[in-house]
Amino acid sequence: MQQKDAKLFFIATWGCQMNSHDSEIMRAILEKNGYQWTERQEEADIFILNTCSVRRHAEQRAIGFLGNLKNLKERNPELIIAVGGCAPQNPEVREYLEKKAPHVDIIFGTRNYHRLPEFLNRVMVKRSRVIALDGEDEDLPGLLPAHHTSTVKAYVTIMYGCNNFCSYCIVPYTRGREKSRPLEEIYQEVQELAAKGYKEVMLLGQNVNSYGKDLPGAINFAKLLAHLDKIPGLARIRYMTSHPRDFDDELIETIAATRKVCEHFHLPLQAGSNRILQLMNRGYTREKYIQLTDKIKNKIPGASITTDIIVGFPGETEDDFLDTLDLVQTVRFDAAYTFMYSPRRGTPAAEMENQVPSEIKKDRLNRLVDVQNRITLEKNKLLEDHVVEVLVEGRSKNNPERWSGRTRTNKIVVFEGEENEDLTGQIVEIVISCAQTWTLFGTLKTVSAKKESSSQSRI
Ligand code: SAH
Ligand code: SF4
Ligand code: F3S
Repeated sequence: MQQKDAKLFFIATWGCQMNSHDSEIMRAILEKNGYQWTERQEEADIFILNTCSVRRHAEQRAIGFLGNLKNLKERNPELIIAVGGCAPQNPEVREYLEKKAPHVDIIFGTRNYHRLPEFLNRVMVKRSRVIALDGEDEDLPGLLPAHHTSTVKAYVTIMYGCNNFCSYCIVPYTRGREKSRPLEEIYQEVQELAAKGYKEVMLLGQNVNSYGKDLPGAINFAKLLAHLDKIPGLARIRYMTSHPRDFDDELIETIAATRKVCEHFHLPLQAGSNRILQLMNRGYTREKYIQLTDKIKNKIPGASITTDIIVGFPGETEDDFLDTLDLVQTVRFDAAYTFMYSPRRGTPAAEMENQVPSEIKKDRLNRLVDVQNRITLEKNKLLEDHVVEVLVEGRSKNNPERWSGRTRTNKIVVFEGEENEDLTGQIVEIVISCAQTWTLFGTLKTVSAKKESSSQSRI
């Protein structure tokens, strides 16, 4: 219901799932404090930009958006603009915001977004600018409300920060040191989500397999998964992101033994050359990586494996790149997110010699994408005529007559359902009739709403 005089706000979000979830939390907190969300940007009284710094392009998009808001604010001086997330934690952007963007009223960080109502009050009452970036001693906020975008699946942050310092990556500087949320708190949050009818949770952290290292007692990520697996009503547990270096046998055994943890492994490879992996400070070799993926394939047949790869890291030669292509063909990933290396000031790689020219980066990216797309399609084609278990997320965006969901292995499936039945949140069995690179098309076999998870159907 429209509250009289309630201030309207809009949040623009860039970046990873962590940022998307932070925006879901900010939205819920502001709504609890009497502010009202609007989809119509032109009527917003408050603009919040939740930004990403991981590559230059992401940062530039947020800064471009901010440029447009400058004109709006000239027309409406009452407009409040807040910029938070990873970009302001990057000293270069922070300096720009502080000195060159006086139309920004609030500059906040990645761990204090739950204090937005207080920051907004300060701007409105004192008419002064708020600059509140994260300090290392920032306490974890505890249980927070969230306006979940989906009614079927929900994000749950399990840890903050990253201690890995991969040499190309800005995240450890923008998100600070690793801090795990207490197990009981995560358990309670997931339990409440399941009780509200959510079928799937995605556990978020930059490096989830470090979970618990900073907590008292013998708690780790595998144990957290085993605990959450017992929550009734929940059908699926996913997590993002796990580091290949720390993916130990206990974790593989736990995933094999639990019913709800999905058979999807996202293991960012980054590069296939040992020389580049070492320069990246990744802590594993190509041989170790292959060993790990072989172990997963043996223990959990039918599991999918996806990855992230960077091309054009400083000093990457054609031979190094061919090592990456070779590894991609050896492991045969189900999908890969591929990026051109983007120098981030303040990270060691940005200072390295032999930066790769952008033409070569583009060429390598294209070649990599071609190889990977062919493999993705070949792997998907193997599913034709097979039955897969799908959690229905809602109507297909491209064709509202059809339904869309995901397999346990995280592949998107689109199918036609029965006419008058709402299948959202149901677990159904689908026979795959046509597999493409990004989507599997199929027909409905059975609906089994009460089934919490399937033990026969692992794909
Ligand atoms: N913590 C996660 C996600 C990090 S960001 C992890 O370790 O996987 C997501 C992906 O962005 C990374 O896996 C990496 O492939 C890519 N990335 C990070 N920094 C980058 C940079 N400077 N240039 C290009 N890609 C980058
Ligand atoms: Fe960045 Fe590496 Fe941390 Fe991932 S693990 S966030 S790539 S430093
Ligand atoms: Fe971007 Fe920050 Fe996520 S830099 S990828 S929003 S952790």
